[in-house]
Amino acid sequence: MQSDFTFSIIKPNAVRTGKTGPILSMINEAGFEISAIKMVKMTLSQAETFYEVHRGRPFFEGLVEFMSSGPVVVMILRHENAIDDFRKLIGATDPAKAEPGTIRKIFAVSVQMNAVHGSDSFENAAKEADYFFSGIERF
Ligand code: CMP
Repeated sequence: MQSDFTFSIIKPNAVRTGKTGPILSMINEAGFEISAIKMVKMTLSQAETFYEVHRGRPFFEGLVEFMSSGPVVVMILRHENAIDDFRKLIGATDPAKAEPGTIRKIFAVSVQMNAVHGSDSFENAAKEADYFFSGIERF
């Protein structure tokens, strides 16, 4: 199913090292429209809820600890075919496998610290967007 929006997070490693601006620039250049945006610092428990689907996987504990280690930038992005097009823009989860020129190839430092998150389905995009944004924060 095609979706006209996706949900994304600029992860703590990228925010901490000053990559928020360059990443937003790439998102903008690719034609995505920012429908909602804010900076938040998740608690461990909030990160666990967000990544609930991965609970039980070997990387879960490290992932939620990392995602709650500092501020992140959360956003809803509008674009035709947003989910697939955004996943192309960010590249593979493992930066070693990401295509040249993708956000993760440029800014990720590892599979865990892979600079950005992008929703993998329409259902998850809706769920993830609702987790962070109320109706009056979305345009
Ligand atoms: P993200 O798009 O945020 O969705 C789930 C996250 O789990 C993923 O990006 C990675 O940061 C992380 N992840 C997935 N697989 C692994 C792995 N094998 N080792 C460490 N982290 C992983």
